[in-house]
Amino acid sequence: MFIKNRGKVVVHVNYVHAQWSSRWAFVLAATGSAVGLGNIWKFPYMVGQGGGGAFVLVYLVCIVLIGIPIMMSEVLLGRRARLSPVNTMRVLAQQEGASPGWQFVGWLGMATGFLILSFYGVVAGWTLAYVFHSASGAFAMENPQHIKALFGAFVTDPQRVLVWHTLFMAMTTLIVARGVQAGLEKAVKVMMPVLFILLLALVFYSMGSGGFDEGWEFLFKTDFDKLTPAVILGAMGQAFFSLSLGMGAIMIYGSYLPQRSSIGGSTFLIVIADTVVALLAGLAVFPIVFANGLEPAAGPPLIFETLPIAFGQMPGGTFWGTLFFVLLVFAAWTSAISLIEPAVAWLTETRGVRRVLAAVLTGGFAWLLGMLTIMSFSDWAFSFRFLGVEKTHGFFDIFELLTTNITLPLGGILIALFAGWTIRRSHSQEELKLGSLAGFEIWLFLTRFVSPVMVGMLLLYLLFGHYLNA
Ligand code: PHE
Repeated sequence: MFIKNRGKVVVHVNYVHAQWSSRWAFVLAATGSAVGLGNIWKFPYMVGQGGGGAFVLVYLVCIVLIGIPIMMSEVLLGRRARLSPVNTMRVLAQQEGASPGWQFVGWLGMATGFLILSFYGVVAGWTLAYVFHSASGAFAMENPQHIKALFGAFVTDPQRVLVWHTLFMAMTTLIVARGVQAGLEKAVKVMMPVLFILLLALVFYSMGSGGFDEGWEFLFKTDFDKLTPAVILGAMGQAFFSLSLGMGAIMIYGSYLPQRSSIGGSTFLIVIADTVVALLAGLAVFPIVFANGLEPAAGPPLIFETLPIAFGQMPGGTFWGTLFFVLLVFAAWTSAISLIEPAVAWLTETRGVRRVLAAVLTGGFAWLLGMLTIMSFSDWAFSFRFLGVEKTHGFFDIFELLTTNITLPLGGILIALFAGWTIRRSHSQEELKLGSLAGFEIWLFLTRFVSPVMVGMLLLYLLFGHYLNA
């Protein structure tokens, strides 16, 4: 593809990426990207720290008003240009006569992908280790103190964590190296259905645990006193994180989407699946937490400390516990691949790097960055305060807060503004083909006004909020 400006070729990308074999493959892959540690590890602990129902309510509002329109925007942009996010933004900006500076969104997204994957790979590594811990029966009939100590001893031992982190990153690199159809598509086709079935089985199990009513109430009873700006900001960030929005993962998957597939319908399915999985994870986790008198606000260790305690006391707990962590590894795997895919696509299309090498380079870089997170739990731990909350895990917390609360929402606003204002109306209408004019108008309104204003207000609060409180 050549894009010329005043007779000079300014963008020259003549690389044609592969495509998904069908719309379903796209829906599965994007659902695989969305459903991950964010739903099963992060969502429950954020709900636990954010006071339950209040957090869940804001989260759901953000999914509808911000998540859906921005996801449609990402798919729209990706499919229109069929290139990596950096070049998608560059090419489309040129086509619409806008500044090439829009490619910044793509660069910010790639950087965000690396930062997220660096800590994501470590947590996924913990998960992988816990598959084997549970299968070995290590949690059976153990007392809670001991199981907590087990997790503490594990995460503070950099060498052991490094082994699992390395294994997970190798798995991720392998799938990415195999490419869109043979790698990504095949992987998600098997993993996603298994994941749903396992999760349903766990919820079913948890219904019999004796804490179901309390768990339900915790998730869905809204206590408006708990709606602090920090909780609202956290819930919005979680919506971006969980839907994989704001960094180009969905954009690159959209760029492999066949031309005739409906963007609105696909988005709807992905969002529903992601939300249902998060809520199911909550319904699986909290009843067990309450039935065993555990602490819902335990933070990142929540599922690694509380669930093994519960599984250890249940009949058949070794089996169920192992199954749970297997499920989590699958979920994390299909998300991790989408975190480096934008960078891999960029390397192959503009630098002529072969896919295998691109996968190794990007996976290797994220693996290396992961050292900072690994060390944050031992020798390099340091603490700081963020919105009045004490954070104790140095780089891990910094990367997590920086991406979830700042770079993803910032990328999201820019994507919304670009899709809503810069892309000509006739172009977005033609690409979205929503069937009804009213549907298109709603999308346009949410994209132009509602999501940028909502996200913008929260980011401004983040920057200047301390003046209000002072
Ligand atoms: N959505 C993934 C999860 O919930 C994480 C992710 C974020 C993946 C951003 C890709 C991009 O675990």
